[in-house]
Amino acid sequence: MSIISKNIQKAIALLTNEQLVAIPTETVYGLAGNIYSEKAIKSIFSTKKRPFFNPLIVHIHSVNSLVDIVTDIPEKAKLLANAFWPGSMTLVLKKNNTIPDIITAGKDTVAVRVPNHPLTLKLLKQLPFPLAAPSANPFGSISPTKPTHVESYFKNDIQMVLDGGSCKNGIESTIIGFENNEPIIYRLGALDLEDIEAVVGKISIKNKEEISPDAPGMLARHYAPTTRTFLVDDVSSEVKNHQGKKIGILVFKKSLNNETITEIILSEKGSLKEAASKLYDSLHELDHQKLDVIITEKFPNNGLGTSINDRLQRATFSL
Ligand code: TXA
Ligand code: MG
Repeated sequence: MSIISKNIQKAIALLTNEQLVAIPTETVYGLAGNIYSEKAIKSIFSTKKRPFFNPLIVHIHSVNSLVDIVTDIPEKAKLLANAFWPGSMTLVLKKNNTIPDIITAGKDTVAVRVPNHPLTLKLLKQLPFPLAAPSANPFGSISPTKPTHVESYFKNDIQMVLDGGSCKNGIESTIIGFENNEPIIYRLGALDLEDIEAVVGKISIKNKEEISPDAPGMLARHYAPTTRTFLVDDVSSEVKNHQGKKIGILVFKKSLNNETITEIILSEKGSLKEAASKLYDSLHELDHQKLDVIITEKFPNNGLGTSINDRLQRATFSL
């Protein structure tokens, strides 16, 4: 029997009973549990095979409940929260002492966001506790953007995926931390950098080497298909290096017009937003076709193209 269901009452009962439920968000599906239940949180880590040093994001239903989770909110954090929540932004702030150490991997900061999905907002409003939810995939694998992706990963491990359809942004939230009360990007994501800068001014991106102990979502190899996958400037010339192989290609907008190749075009009209929303689903699809190799192309390095390139670099062997 399928674990995919729209029954929100069942989700409430399971979560109240310290069980896990995969929940829809506008970015990717999350594997959710009560932040105050040690049992639930431990089972998030064991189900995902996620190392305990990698902290979780706390999901709340409104900007107003932020004060239950954190202390010392910088002025620019307030501006960002009011501008982007509910939405695809996670803030890393000084934690309140009621937040269990297992959520934050012992850090004195906690990651928090208000997701923008009607079903999950409804769920959060009805629960007397916030939900910790990492992306609902085994550690290092491609993140899920459809209920079926979660089901194929975890049908033997969890009892329910709350069915909220396909995730409309399709790429994880942008994570923003603070140093001396100034915001700094920890992880590129579903928000456009220009939109963030319109609210708080010029913002820098913490470099990968510095960030990796803090945000393992920034690990060099992450979000990866099981099929050998390459990221190149020119897909058509790379295809020539794999003669006689079963090849899958993932391109931005232009077809290679090669009948012998399995091809997915992310956005024929050249929309980066549309491409981001289809990125993981397309990688899942190619990964399930028993191909010998997947070849993807670099995106224009502006707006969401930068976030897409970040994920593709981690998902692939760059040439
Ligand atoms: O869009 C999203 O953010 C999704 C949905 C489900 O909300 N969640 C998600 O969670 O992507 P996860 O666990 O896959 O990625 C969370 C990232 C990790 O890289 C983690 O290291 C970082 O957030 N993180 C969590 N707490 C942190 C903290 N206190 N300081 C720095 N980074 C933190
Ligand atoms: Mg993840």
